[in-house]
Amino acid sequence: MNQIERLIKERRSIRKYKPDMISAEDLQAIVKAGIWAPNAMNEQLWHFTVVSDANTIEQMNKATIAGIEKSGFSFLQNKITQPEYHTFYHAPAVIVISAKEEKFTAFDCGAAAENIALAAYGKNIGSCIIGSAEFMFSENPEMHTVLKIPENYHFVCAISLGYFEKTTAVSERNEDVIDYIA
Ligand SMILES: Cc1cc2nc3c(=O)[nH]c(=O)nc-3n(C[C@H](O)[C@H](O)[C@H](O)COP(=O)(O)O)c2cc1C
Repeated sequence: MNQIERLIKERRSIRKYKPDMISAEDLQAIVKAGIWAPNAMNEQLWHFTVVSDANTIEQMNKATIAGIEKSGFSFLQNKITQPEYHTFYHAPAVIVISAKEEKFTAFDCGAAAENIALAAYGKNIGSCIIGSAEFMFSENPEMHTVLKIPENYHFVCAISLGYFEKTTAVSERNEDVIDYIA
């Protein structure tokens, strides 16, 4: 297995972080891995907001909880009642990816998110894609401004980032979804 295959296979979503801050240099390298993702017609209709300010991350968490409370989405409504709940798992940094609403931009941002996760993991930094953070805007639309999301762009996902204790992660994948025609 080469280094890239190993990183792809070993990367896991991390939901417990050390409080240690990631250096500005590492955050820059990680977010820049995002912009090298394949994207339709190389139009790059995406935007990346790197948040390492604890107060802003807390504001994002509170806005997400407010949105979930009103969402009627019972899975998440149950989650936010847990005392340890935090949308970003207390990560010291979060990258928010937004995009213009065009046919392939969600796909583009998914590829960027995976690049970010792998680049982080290559630096022993854990990550978790947080789709549920979309609720932060439903009751608090001013979060678009707080997060410098460009006009006519919409939230696609957030990615929490932080150092973590290495554990033997359990993850299952169903290989029955693959067919070969040779
Ligand atoms: C689009 C998307 C949205 C996700 N949203 C969340 C989320 O809101 N909260 C969370 O804890 N994990 C979230 N995840 C992480 C998945 O739960 C995780 O990738 C999956 O369980 C497989 O585990 P692994 O990443 O460790 O291989 C999301 C993943 C994707 C791709």
